[in-house]
Amino acid sequence: MSEGELSLSKPLLFTPFTMRGVVAPNRCVVSPMVQYRATDGEVNDYHLVHLGKFALGKFGIVFTENCAVEPQGRVTQGDLGLWDDAQIESHRRLVRFLKQEGALAATQITHAGRKGSTPRSFDKPGELGPREAGWKKWEVVGPSAVPAGEGYPTPRQLAAPELEGLVRKFGEAARRADAAGYDVIEIHGAHGYLLAQFLSPISNTRNDQYGGDRAGRMRFPLAAAQAVRSNWPEHKPMFIRVSAVDGAGGWDVEDTIAYARELKAIGIDVVDTSSGGLTGLSTALPVKRSLGFQVPFAAAVKRGAGIPTMAVGLILDGPQAEAILQAGDADLIAIGRQALYDPFWALHAAQELGCDSDFDMWTPEYGWWLEKRKNNLPK
Ligand SMILES: Cc1cc2nc3c(=O)[nH]c(=O)nc-3n(C[C@H](O)[C@H](O)[C@H](O)COP(=O)(O)O)c2cc1C
Repeated sequence: MSEGELSLSKPLLFTPFTMRGVVAPNRCVVSPMVQYRATDGEVNDYHLVHLGKFALGKFGIVFTENCAVEPQGRVTQGDLGLWDDAQIESHRRLVRFLKQEGALAATQITHAGRKGSTPRSFDKPGELGPREAGWKKWEVVGPSAVPAGEGYPTPRQLAAPELEGLVRKFGEAARRADAAGYDVIEIHGAHGYLLAQFLSPISNTRNDQYGGDRAGRMRFPLAAAQAVRSNWPEHKPMFIRVSAVDGAGGWDVEDTIAYARELKAIGIDVVDTSSGGLTGLSTALPVKRSLGFQVPFAAAVKRGAGIPTMAVGLILDGPQAEAILQAGDADLIAIGRQALYDPFWALHAAQELGCDSDFDMWTPEYGWWLEKRKNNLPK
């Protein structure tokens, strides 16, 4: 077999993916997952170990959790941040390690808007994070004075000049992400956080230039995306996470496709296609949760807007991921909870797909031993 034939037979999941001047070694991506472990938004030892193990597990792209562009934009007080130059150094240490192990270092920037100042997912309702750490509530803001649901605070409506300030903050967070050395940046525009709140007429009832028809409701998110693109190097790729449907009937796939066309024109490289979260708790389900439940959204955006997409949501193993790529439904595969269950998911997927039976993809400090051990295992 010639080398050409060999590479043809390689699973797409383990084929490099070039985005501008940056190459992901494979299509396996760790999805952003907030851990509530930061103090003052800084990366610490916990984040290094939590994310570092995914780099050792040979995911091609490792995303941090959502990093707030201002303190008020955090979901909880324990979220990471990129709102202050003083935070850059802590991110650098993480980025160095991820890259040293061969992964692209990626970060997600966000503003929680009306869904800020919340307890951690696993706290009792009404409790606000670790009391001993002094977690306190703060004022939440949004496009309109409409709460996310029962038990959520009513946000203060943001004035137009404040929105211009927030657009600048997205840009500044991008500049800090670059200074920290990240290869990939993603705007969190999904799950009912600030950008998604602007898109949906359910959460955005404004009648100024930032509300009204779809073009008006897209104005602030597009301005934020533009500011990030302008502050993020030309050779580095930029993603955006969207909720293809908001889960409340205000924003649909057709809207997302129109939005994705505009994002593409701004220079967004990949649409990370999620869904839901606009109202209430994350238990408000726009689609029934079954294997690959959001893949049809990734496919619709990819085909409808002609832009690469990342699929996410209950993707569990290598063959399932490979089938999504082979069908042309997405270009990258994001793994969330399955990566918590198995940090070496990518390496195991390679074995399932028959392209690493000799442990060659593993770091040699592990792989050499595992290869030798093969003959000692019961047949
Ligand atoms: C612990 C945890 C934290 C999460 N935090 C974020 C986050 O910071 N940003 C985000 O866009 N999605 C977040 N998500 C959603 C995941 O990125 C992913 O989209 C979701 O879990 C579905 O994928 P899965 O079925 O592979 O887990 C989080 C999910 C989990 C389980």
